[in-house]
Amino acid sequence: MTDNPEAEVSESQIAVHWREEDYYQPPPQLAAQANAADPAIFDRFGEDKFPECFAEYADLLTWDERWHTTLDTSNPPFWKWYVGGMLNASYNCVDRHAQASPDKPAIIWVPELESDEQVTISYGELHRQVNEFTALLRDFAGLQAGDRVTLHMPMVAELPVTMLACARLGVVHSEVFGGFSGNACGTRIADSGSRVLITMDGYYRAGELVDHKVKADEALEEAARQGQEVDKVLVWRRHPGKFASSTPMAPGRDFYVDELLGGFAGAVVEPVSMPAEAPLFLMYTSGTTGRPKGAQHSTGGYLAYVAGTSKYYQDIHPDDMYWCMADIGWITGHSYIVYGPLALGTTTVIYEGVPNYPDGGRPWRIAQQLGVNIFHTSPTAIRMLRKVGPTEPSKHDYHFKTMTTVGEPIEPEVWRWYYSEVGKGEAAITDTWWQTETGGFLGSTLPALQPMKPGSCGPGALGIYPVIYDEDANEVPAGSGKAGNICIRNPWPGIMQTIWGQPERFVDVYYAKYNRNADSKDWHDWPYFAGDGAVQAADGYFRILGRVDDVINVAGHRLGTKELESAALTVPEIAEAAAVPVIDDIRGRIVEMYVSLKPGVSADGMAEKVTKAIEVEIGKIARPKNVWIVADMPKTRSGKIMRRVIASVSNFADVGDVTTLANPEVVETIRRHVQSAKAAKGETPRDLTDAERAEIATYGAAE
Ligand code: WTA
Repeated sequence: MTDNPEAEVSESQIAVHWREEDYYQPPPQLAAQANAADPAIFDRFGEDKFPECFAEYADLLTWDERWHTTLDTSNPPFWKWYVGGMLNASYNCVDRHAQASPDKPAIIWVPELESDEQVTISYGELHRQVNEFTALLRDFAGLQAGDRVTLHMPMVAELPVTMLACARLGVVHSEVFGGFSGNACGTRIADSGSRVLITMDGYYRAGELVDHKVKADEALEEAARQGQEVDKVLVWRRHPGKFASSTPMAPGRDFYVDELLGGFAGAVVEPVSMPAEAPLFLMYTSGTTGRPKGAQHSTGGYLAYVAGTSKYYQDIHPDDMYWCMADIGWITGHSYIVYGPLALGTTTVIYEGVPNYPDGGRPWRIAQQLGVNIFHTSPTAIRMLRKVGPTEPSKHDYHFKTMTTVGEPIEPEVWRWYYSEVGKGEAAITDTWWQTETGGFLGSTLPALQPMKPGSCGPGALGIYPVIYDEDANEVPAGSGKAGNICIRNPWPGIMQTIWGQPERFVDVYYAKYNRNADSKDWHDWPYFAGDGAVQAADGYFRILGRVDDVINVAGHRLGTKELESAALTVPEIAEAAAVPVIDDIRGRIVEMYVSLKPGVSADGMAEKVTKAIEVEIGKIARPKNVWIVADMPKTRSGKIMRRVIASVSNFADVGDVTTLANPEVVETIRRHVQSAKAAKGETPRDLTDAERAEIATYGAAE
């Protein structure tokens, strides 16, 4: 290994040291069958071939009408792909495979309880289920192309059936992660203007049957408070015929899907031919400000991009057994459980539960039993499985050819366990860097063609041209050892079209920072700002450092600082609130809250109230590790809370220079209180790496 020169985080000029990792070469047996085995692919996607190179991805789909313009840049940065093209996403993911091989498994659903039967849905059966539910959506719910529908569903096969039924009509689905609270769902119903909510009564999580219907009632109440009425709630039942929830059904508003479906038995609904530019779905995500952003994805560009990247980066063939252990409620599940794999006609495994239920061997039992040969998961799941069962994989007879990781930076040491234990040294790892907004992979290695480097995602994906800029828009050269803001210089088919209902915010958040000329119609003037810090090594590989926009990445879930703080402020006794990240060895980052109380309020029970408020407003995934009640927050003279100071306290890091604060004296009081309480609970952290130290020391800079 060679030592890399120092890197710096541009805002703070804090040195970040790390070592360059050794390469791992692609497994030789992969090349013999890989979809991308010939290096000529790099020429086909060379910058001189842009944007026409992306016809190769669109050609994986069946079009009702071929496009006439691959990329239309007439209204920057609202790029249009495959203009003039007409297609249907449901047809592409279902009908064409049902015609060619009706008996082939499309979905294998694995319930969490091992005593429950697995369900195999062939392409023919998927076609039947999607058609019947489409008829229900059209004839019972009165939905048509362009309407938005909110889904709040767990990891069941009925979720892709619902998504594909919406897509069949051109109805825009907006799936909210099942773990989000009723209120969070309600906010998204209101923002998208949905009049129909599709949910499920309950589901299994960590061995318990969770009541999920209760969230639908909360969601409708919150949506109504925000001015959006919902007239129908369609409730799938986890066990058809048997209600899994104790929350009553509202007559005339709530309907059991399994009862209604009887009236649509055998129905066939022609897929509605949609323009490539028609929105396919919304996926809400967090950013610097409080209100969630509905990333709007297109039908043609998105589907082409996820099909192409599934084919080349995950090396999916129709006869593979593919398992992505993410949740369909996030973009990873949309792109790489549902749309990408089904567009390619492969078999996609859907697992209902948590990876370590009932024990850390569960994923490997599933892999062995089903013959999974492509596996996709997150660093948090890898860290957790390593902790609970470091030698479990070797006890199971399965063989992966490729494995993907996504959602957070992966530590080289964790990468190596994934490679040698989970992959048994036989599988290529693709570390895929991308975002909700980007539809599909942006940075990764082609598994049979490019060597892997632990902790680095790799170079830009085919047809993607990343660049690192400093704060003044100077390019930070590869190999300089300096960190900066990673951007993508060019448009690509998977990029979101806009933020639903907030086009100005779309331009402001992603393009304004590095736009060279607001009047320019040349895409070269509109780099996409991803909101991540990164460093590029001399070999062109990127190492992603994390968010630069006050988003805390907890177990791969993006939580906005502002969302957490507004949730805390719903407690009437709270005067001020600040959320900070704490380094965690399993979940990457966890949240700690600092709050101050209104005058005369007693601290009794306040921490619990804040935690409860966060669960209600966002969901249990956002629950803070600790809530610290302080007399006063450290502030600048202009009154801004210094989040970096309290983040340093929570992480036992150096608080830096506090002499310019309006109230420097509070820092030491807070430090003593928090750190002695944490030490007493055994929460003293390990030594932080320099990159982690830099992240903490600059936390809150985006505000
Ligand atoms: C982070 C998930 C390092 C990054 C697909 C990004 C990663 C955010 C990686 C997007 C990776 C994603 N290495 N960091 N391979 N993949 N991230 O929208 O900070 O839920 O901006 O999309 O996750 O999270 P999102």
